Amino acid sequence: MVGTNVVADADPGTGEGRPGPEKAANAVTLTVTNKQQLAEGVVSVTLARPDGGRLPDWTPGSHIDLVLPDGTVRQYSLCGDRWDAHTYRIAVLREPAGRGGSAYVHDRLRAGDRVGVGGPRNHFPLAPSESYVFIAGGIGITPLLPMVRQAELLGADWQLLYGGRSRASMAFRDELVAAYGERVHVVPQDELGLLDLNACLGTPRADTKVYCCGPAPLLAAVEDACASWAPYALRTERFTAGDQAAPVRDGAFEVELRRSGRAVTVTPGISVLEAVRVAGVDVLSSCEQGTCGTCLTPVLDGQPDHRDSILTDHQRAANDCMFVCVSRSCGDRLVLDL
Ligand code: FES
Repeated sequence: MVGTNVVADADPGTGEGRPGPEKAANAVTLTVTNKQQLAEGVVSVTLARPDGGRLPDWTPGSHIDLVLPDGTVRQYSLCGDRWDAHTYRIAVLREPAGRGGSAYVHDRLRAGDRVGVGGPRNHFPLAPSESYVFIAGGIGITPLLPMVRQAELLGADWQLLYGGRSRASMAFRDELVAAYGERVHVVPQDELGLLDLNACLGTPRADTKVYCCGPAPLLAAVEDACASWAPYALRTERFTAGDQAAPVRDGAFEVELRRSGRAVTVTPGISVLEAVRVAGVDVLSSCEQGTCGTCLTPVLDGQPDHRDSILTDHQRAANDCMFVCVSRSCGDRLVLDL
């Protein structure tokens, strides 16, 4: 499902996850061809190859890893035209409480600068459906923008609920309303209050999928509203890790690293990722909270205790991969392809 070993961070538009190794494998160098103020606190950045060549294809919901000239790595959703093979567009929210990545983009990044780009990768793919409800909170609009276009292109029935602090802070608001009219419901909180989730999610619909991206309170409200919908009808992308139940297992467990011919004991209080690194095996990571997907590792034997915010229930049940920064083991032993 998702690629491995590309450093990323944890947020569709703020890019402000927890610290990790500030490097990205397989990064290519792109040029900033345009930077624009989109809304209060939000700028767009357009990227292209220095030689004008073709960029790797991507699908709605994909993100890239942006390696800034100061070495910082952040993750941003692609929100441009997926059929434009020569440019990528991202939108970046200034995060005053962030670690400086968004501030760098806002204050220092200029047209003509070179940046490293890893990916694209997609942990939030758009599944086929006759009908969609898209729900965005603030900068969470970015991964949904290409989904809306795709749904329109495929002739699906869809609506977008887009909430934000105020009209001025809501990027792409005019563009969406101009293109799609009444399908788009713009709800600035200072004028209209919170999104009316009951009105659109109150009655489960078998032919409809719900895609939501935004801050944690919005995701929790949408999850509640979809509690009686069919399994997998709701897909979310998180800015930060969701609440987790206690680990299945209290005690230590063994992890065999089959390709390296080593074994490590993972004690309570350290992660599989830390234990593996202590054993001298490097695994790239970034968010270290189970949201970015960088540390995906194939599982050869054993049952992981999945504690990430990425895999679906179906993918968890396959027991063939895990995010080693947060996930643990249900049993005494796991065998990893490391
Ligand atoms: S490092 Fe982000 S999911 Fe593990």
